Amino acid sequence: MTERAQSDIAAESQGAILSGEQDLRGKTFFVKTFGCQMNVHDSERMSGLLAGSGALPVNDPAEADIILVNTCTIRDKADQKALSDLGRIRMVRKDGPENILAVTGCMAQREGEEIFRLVPDVDLILGPSQIRNLIPLIETVSSGKTRVNGTILPNPEMTTPPALRPGGATAFVTVQEGCDKACAYCVVPSTRGAERSRPVQDIVNEIEMLVRSGYSEVTLLGQNVNGYGKKGDAGGALFPDLLRKVEGISGLKRVRFTTSHPVDMSHELLEVMARGSKIMPHLHLPVQSGSDAVLSRMQRGYTVAQYREWVSLLRKVVPGFSLTTDLIVGFCGETEEEFTQTMEVVAEFQFEGAFSFIYSPRPSTPAFSWGTLPPREVSVERLERLQKLVESQSSRRNEAQMGQTVEILVEKWDPENRVAMGRTPQFQNVRGILPPSWGEPELGDLLKVNIEVASKSGLKGTCTGRA
Ligand code: SAH
Ligand code: SF4
Ligand code: F3S
Repeated sequence: MTERAQSDIAAESQGAILSGEQDLRGKTFFVKTFGCQMNVHDSERMSGLLAGSGALPVNDPAEADIILVNTCTIRDKADQKALSDLGRIRMVRKDGPENILAVTGCMAQREGEEIFRLVPDVDLILGPSQIRNLIPLIETVSSGKTRVNGTILPNPEMTTPPALRPGGATAFVTVQEGCDKACAYCVVPSTRGAERSRPVQDIVNEIEMLVRSGYSEVTLLGQNVNGYGKKGDAGGALFPDLLRKVEGISGLKRVRFTTSHPVDMSHELLEVMARGSKIMPHLHLPVQSGSDAVLSRMQRGYTVAQYREWVSLLRKVVPGFSLTTDLIVGFCGETEEEFTQTMEVVAEFQFEGAFSFIYSPRPSTPAFSWGTLPPREVSVERLERLQKLVESQSSRRNEAQMGQTVEILVEKWDPENRVAMGRTPQFQNVRGILPPSWGEPELGDLLKVNIEVASKSGLKGTCTGRA
């Protein structure tokens, strides 16, 4: 636990206890997180609520009075991981009627009461859009020692309780929650509810507070972050307006955002990215497939040609632009020819990075009952071919950077080896060795690194100056 995190706890404890929340002073809590950045940040907000009520975080579930397992359910493997972790935690958790085991997150929301059958000693379940109710629900469990199902509560208005972040140079900030798209394979609209956007001023206030407490970079989070405000729920502001406001915050060095959707791209966003000095030239824009027929079955709402149009514009107007993506293989009915089209777009777009997955049918999604899956071994082989292609592209690109000087924002410092770790504006991981004559860097410093080693896992070199 860093010093900053402890002072955050103290500050927040006072605020929440004064506001009449349950007093959890003397209690300890442990949070285990699976899944995407939204889930990581939900865990930070739930930790903020617990710390705000006086409880203290611990690193070992065996020592915790309150245990939260914040789950993901995007693919079957995610469910299996969470369930096996719950099995392990059950074995080590403290005995005693006052202790609480809660399952939160997307798997809790999807499975509902079924969780109580799968893991009999769970006391509380709670979905992602209910995290603000965590403390009152813990109170209900403690007072009656009954199981509580928070997943049946209605979707509340968007609220963002104070987060307890681990410290460092970079922080997640929620700007939008939920998803109104209807991708045929995806469970997120049903686990996270309808899209809702947070008021601009709330976001600006939170980021100003983060800058005051030493953060240098923020990543704005939303399932469809570039669809921010589309429903008119941010007082008429849209995503480019929000970016302009955030960029104006003095002391803030870098702004990132994820995840963007091709359908919600706009020329105004391109303009802001092209001109913005603090807005990093990196976009995570999932394409999912290189076949129009598959994209249509997936109900993604765009064609490869439309995606290509945005990519060529971005590469033209945003200096140093870098593109990463998500890809699914083995979707319902995917033929060898359709898969080949995915290989072709990967070769064409030269993504700087790609997460790729085998389609996993999810209960309660439209595609669940369609069947027509390619045989498992075919999908496994397609994924291997795809990942080999992505890796060979990134090795080639990394090698091409040998001898170049890049700029990193220091996120970690290893004093023993004198290595500063950080990312380039394009989101590449870099390890930079500091010359012996230099003093220690601060987290959030911008350093120039001359690249001398390029490997699969990233770039390494020597720091040559401060930016
Ligand atoms: N909101 C984001 C990402 C959501 S989930 C977006 O729309 O792009 C992250 C990634 O998981 C998706 O982009 C998709 O590639 C993958 N994914 C989602 N559902 C899946 C499923 N049922 N099987 C396999 N991969 C899936
Ligand atoms: Fe899922 Fe599609 Fe929404 Fe992304 S846009 S969260 S893939 S439904
Ligand atoms: Fe998983 Fe939910 Fe994120 S299903 S990927 S934790 S939105």
